[in-house]
Formats: sequence, structure tokens, C-alpha cells
Amino acid sequence: MVLTLDATATGGASVSRRLYSSFDPHSTGKKARDCASCHLSSWALGLGTGTLSLSGVRPTFTPASPAPGNPRMAVDAWTHLDAEKPGTGTRVGLRSLDRAELGRTLSVGACLPCHEKADDRVYRDFAASKARLARGGTRCTFRAPR
Ligand code: HEC
Ligand code: HEC
Repeated sequence: MVLTLDATATGGASVSRRLYSSFDPHSTGKKARDCASCHLSSWALGLGTGTLSLSGVRPTFTPASPAPGNPRMAVDAWTHLDAEKPGTGTRVGLRSLDRAELGRTLSVGACLPCHEKADDRVYRDFAASKARLARGGTRCTFRAPR
């Protein structure tokens, strides 16, 4: 819900908000969504439509269509990667992921192209896997960006 309330014509304020309004989904089904549908989806993460890149030191997102007045943010976004505070919703307690949570979610996305399955041993203790990768000496073919 991207809205602007403009009362300047009567001497009031102009307020812009990007709120998420949750509904019961019509898409409830037997098939679970796959890992990439969250971990590699800018849309699911609230960043909007655009291109995610995980090949640099930090993840980047290039909006397909930037929001007016904020080129880092997509026109259809709820939040962005550097947001100081999570995006808010129409209900108390409803929010987007914050910056740290987005970073953790996307760092799993960098491994999914090769470690595709939920039972892949790298996900058993992901922090330990990242530490092992950083130390070197595994047979992993992932090349960490410099
Ligand atoms: C509905 C969306 C969704 C799906 C589907 C999903 N994840 Fe996640 N996952 C998340 C989010 C969001 C987090 C980060 C939560 C946080 O750190 O606060 C996360 C966290 C993780 C973490 C921990 C990352 C860390 O550094 O702590 C791992 C590992 C992970 N997911 C693996 C998977 C795998 C493998 C699959 C598929 C079998 C999967 N996830 C499916 C949303 C999802
Ligand atoms: C380009 C493909 C590719 C990507 C991307 C990738 N890996 Fe791997 N990884 C491999 C291969 C291949 C192996 C060796 C599998 C084996 O030994 O059976 C491996 C093995 C590993 C191992 C050793 C597992 C073990 O128990 O010996 C770790 C840890 C690991 N990867 C972590 C990661 C993490 C963390 C990421 C994401 C940041 C990642 N990898 C991304 C291909 C990849």
C-alpha cells in the first residue's frame, strides 16, 4: 500500500507511507515453496521488482523502476537493503525484515545455486559452514568476492 495523504490545500501536512497489509492468501496449497522463492526473491523480501546481485562483498539490488525521490528503492518496494528501520504494516507488530535479517537471508541465497537441498549438510549449522568456507580447505567451488 503506497499512499500519499496530502492536506496542503487546507494548510495541513503531506504524508507518504509504504505499508504492508496482510490478507489470508488464496494460494494455500500442498506444495511447500522452495528455498529460492524467499532467499533469492526480491519480491518476497519486500525489495520490489528488480535485480538482486550476490556477487559483490555485499548484496546489491537494482530496482527495475526506482521510487520517486529515492533511487535505491523500487517503486513497488516495501523496504530497501540499507533501510534504517524495517518497513511497517497496517497492523501492530507487522513489519518487513530489518537490515541484518535481510543480509542473513540473502547470504543463504548465495549458496542455493549449488547447495540446493534442505538436507544439504551445509545448512545443518550454517554459521559453522560459513566459517569453514572462510578458513578454506573444503572442496567448495564457491569463490568469495573480494
Ligand atoms: C518463506 C520464506 C523462506 C523459505 C521458503 C526458506 N527460508 Fe530460510 N530463512 C528465511 C528467513 C526470512 C531467514 C532469516 C531469518 C533471520 O535471520 O532473522 C531464513 C534463514 C535461513 C537460514 C539461517 C541463516 C543464518 O545465517 O542464520 C538458513 C541456513 C536457511 N534459511 C536455509 C533455508 C533452506 C535450505 C530453505 C529451503 C529448504 C529455506 N531456508 C527456505 C526465509 C525462508
Ligand atoms: C558454485 C557452486 C557452489 C556454491 C555457490 C557454494 N558451494 Fe559450497 N560446495 C560446493 C561443492 C561442489 C562442494 C563439495 C561437495 C562435496 O564435498 O560433496 C561444496 C562444499 C562445501 C562445504 C564443505 C561441506 C563438507 O561437509 O565437507 C562447505 C562448508 C560449503 N560448501 C559452504 C558453502 C557456503 C556457506 C556457500 C554459500 C556462501 C557455498 N558453499 C556455496 C559448491 C558450491
